[in-house]
Amino acid sequence: MKVLIIGGAGTIGKKVNAHFSKKHETIVAGRNSGKINVDITNSESIVSMFESVGQIDAVICIAGEAKWAPFDSMTEEDFFIGLKSKLMGQVNIVRLGRKYINTGGSFTLTAGILADHPVLLTSSAAMVNGALHSFVKAVSLELTNRIRINVVSSGLVEDAVEKYEDYFPGHNPIPMRKVINGYVKSVEGSGTGEIIRMYDN
Ligand SMILES: NC(=O)c1ccc[n+]([C@@H]2O[C@H](COP(=O)([O-])OP(=O)(O)OC[C@H]3O[C@@H](n4cnc5c(N)ncnc54)[C@H](OP(=O)(O)O)[C@@H]3O)[C@@H](O)[C@H]2O)c1
Repeated sequence: MKVLIIGGAGTIGKKVNAHFSKKHETIVAGRNSGKINVDITNSESIVSMFESVGQIDAVICIAGEAKWAPFDSMTEEDFFIGLKSKLMGQVNIVRLGRKYINTGGSFTLTAGILADHPVLLTSSAAMVNGALHSFVKAVSLELTNRIRINVVSSGLVEDAVEKYEDYFPGHNPIPMRKVINGYVKSVEGSGTGEIIRMYDN
C-alpha cells in the first residue's frame, strides 16, 4: 500500500512510520518535517500536499494541536486554535483528500483519551477529541468507493511520559507497540466508523 502519514515525524508518528515502512510505501508529511511540508490549518496547503502525492491507499493523520490552559483564561481565539488545527485540519484532510484515495482505501485520524477522560486544562483539547469521534462515526456513513475511516484515541503514550505525566495523575502510559496497533487495525483491518480506544483506564 502507498500510505501518507501526516505528522509521521512526531513522537507517535515516527514509531508508526517505522512500523508501516517495513511493509508499505510510506510518505511522511509535516509542518517542518518529512518529505512533504503541509500546514493542516490551511486548505490550500492540504490540496497541494495531495496533488504532489497523487493517488494513495491510506492516509494516517497524527498531527494537530489544541491549546491547554485554565478554562478561566481561555479566550475565543484560544478555542479556535484547536478547532482550526486538530479538528478542522483533520476534517479538511478527509473533505479535500477523499478523491485522492483509491477504492477500498482508508483514512485514520487521531483524537485521544481526553474525549472520555479529560484532565485539568483541557476544555479545548477534550472537546476537539470528542468532536473527532462524532465526525468519524457520521462521515463513515457517507464515504463512497468503499473508503473507510477510523479514529485512534490513545492514552498518554510511553514516549511522551516525561513531558506530560504531571498532567495525567494515575494514568497508565500506553506502550508504543499498542499505539501502533491502533493504526494497524485501522489501515489493515476492515472496520469503519470506529473509535479505536488504546487505553485501559
Ligand atoms: N503524545 C501523546 O501521549 C498523545 C496521546 C493521545 C493523542 N495524542 C495526539 O496525537 C497527535 C500527535 O501527538 P505527538 O505527541 O506525536 O505530537 P508531536 O510529537 O508534537 O508531533 C506532532 C507532529 O504533527 C506535525 N504537525 C503539528 N501541527 C501541524 C500542522 N498544523 N500541519 C502539519 N503538521 C503538523 C508536527 O510536524 P512538525 O514537527 O514538522 O511541526 C509533528 O510531526 C496530537 O494530535 C496529540 O494530541 C498524543
